[in-house]
Amino acid sequence: YQNFITWFGHLAKGEPFTALAYLSIALVVITVLKNGFRFLAMNFMVLIRNRSIQEIRQNVYQRCLDLPIAFFNNERKGDLMSRMSNDVKEIEFALMVSLEALYFQPLNIILFMVALVMLSAKLTLYILLFLPITALIIGLIGRSLRKRSTRNQELLGKVMTAYDETLGGIRIIKAFNAAGFFSQKYKEQDEAYTRNNIGVQRRYDLASPMSETIGIGVSALLLWLGGSMVFRNELDPEFFLTYFAIFSQLIPPFKAFSNALYAAQKGIASLDRIQELVTAPVTVEDPIVAEVPVFNNNIVLKNVGFGYLDGAKVIDGFDLEIKKGQTIALVGPSGAGKTTLTDLLARFYDVTDGGILLDGVDIRKFKQDDLRRLIGIVNQENILFNETVRNNIALGMPKTPLEAVIDAAKAANAHEFIMEMDHGYDTEIGERGGKLSGGQKQRLAIARALLKDPEILILDEATSALDSNSEKAVQQALEKLMSSKTSIIIAHRLSTVIHADVIIVLDKGKMIEKGTHNELLEQKGMYFNLIQLQQLLSN
Ligand SMILES: Nc1ncnc2c1ncn2[C@@H]1O[C@H](COP(=O)(O)OP(=O)(O)OP(=O)(O)O)[C@@H](O)[C@H]1O
Ligand SMILES: [Mg+2]
Repeated sequence: YQNFITWFGHLAKGEPFTALAYLSIALVVITVLKNGFRFLAMNFMVLIRNRSIQEIRQNVYQRCLDLPIAFFNNERKGDLMSRMSNDVKEIEFALMVSLEALYFQPLNIILFMVALVMLSAKLTLYILLFLPITALIIGLIGRSLRKRSTRNQELLGKVMTAYDETLGGIRIIKAFNAAGFFSQKYKEQDEAYTRNNIGVQRRYDLASPMSETIGIGVSALLLWLGGSMVFRNELDPEFFLTYFAIFSQLIPPFKAFSNALYAAQKGIASLDRIQELVTAPVTVEDPIVAEVPVFNNNIVLKNVGFGYLDGAKVIDGFDLEIKKGQTIALVGPSGAGKTTLTDLLARFYDVTDGGILLDGVDIRKFKQDDLRRLIGIVNQENILFNETVRNNIALGMPKTPLEAVIDAAKAANAHEFIMEMDHGYDTEIGERGGKLSGGQKQRLAIARALLKDPEILILDEATSALDSNSEKAVQQALEKLMSSKTSIIIAHRLSTVIHADVIIVLDKGKMIEKGTHNELLEQKGMYFNLIQLQQLLSN
């Protein structure tokens, strides 16, 4: 250190040119170092920012896959989309603005404060008296900012929902001339969002002028107090100037810090919404210690009762034994609870009363994946994905050889129309299979179930969209599969269920008749009436 002082003394006193040269070099070296490290720091920040955001996104996505179906009945899709896009963006912005400032500015502020205290503890104390007031103002604005930001994200979710619904139903909106209605509804939601957003941005814009005003206010006070001390000869003027110069260095970090606080508040509002999604309760849970499902004997539904979240029982006191290999048909009026019953079997929902036993073991003791591996479903809605025909049929089984896919498609009477498509099995079928006809979608869904070759087959109106010829062909393939499997078929067209081992008539969630086709005809009850009605219609 002593050496350095001597050397510096020489430098300053002696050769002016050497001094100048050293100074210039020092300037360059310092700048290169500063910017080099700054670049490194930013590199690191970019990494932190992107990787943390990625983790949030992936958590949200994974969570959506884990959440039970009931969750999605109650949430609006647009809002979920908005959380994934807008809220995540807000968090990213907050991270970008505040990460650096919230870590480094306090350090800056503390260093300057230490210098100020060392120069004059008394003056510094005066300044510190303003701290609580400043903190209060910043806190109040921050809180209101956070509340409004939460509301903002909710409103944006509604806007996105309106947009999503419109895109999904565009054909019906046009057909029913409902564009005016939807346009009005959209405008209202957009207006509410825009107003709230203006409020948020105004508060946010308040941050910078506010902190600058506070800073200058404190400076003026300092000038007055310190100046008076100088005039009273209590303070050395040079000393005061130094003090004031250092103090003025405090304002930019203070401003950056309070700006960062506001950005963080907005980010936290969004983070709360993400948190809400990630911590939403999983009502259909896998057990901690799971048993492995075996199906050798039977499925027993014991006094099964179920109601959706919001109301009355949809299934009530339902008892049934399904022996392995049997074909069970569920018939009954629309809204009777047929689909619900099969949903319970696959644990899309858990029963609220009673239990469902597979070979004597309650199905809640299995992992959902293990249970569903046994079950193949063709639904009332034939859900297809924006993928190739091949991947849609071999869903969840990406390694299936093409030959097997083709066999399944042939059995489902789908091979022919697939081959007529531009790229055959490699044709992309558009979002939700939008490029296909209703019957074509249904045949792909059947091919999917045939390929899975499950132990338990659930066919919910599986052939309802087919013309009589293709229905006959598909029905044959299905019957071949059903003869060796356990199956549950739901159909309004009763001609497809007459061969079932057991036919169950369901009405308002209760089993009211049970037997074979002939037995039920003799009972002359609801089934008999339905059959008569349909025969009348077809004659
Ligand atoms: N997600 C849901 N939330 C609340 N209630 C529902 C839900 N899904 C169905 N329901 C109600 O449960 C009852 C049974 O519906 P379900 O879909 O099981 O009838 P279904 O017998 O399959 O009728 P369909 O023959 O028309 O398909 C209906 O009254 C319906 O309104
Ligand atoms: Mg149904």
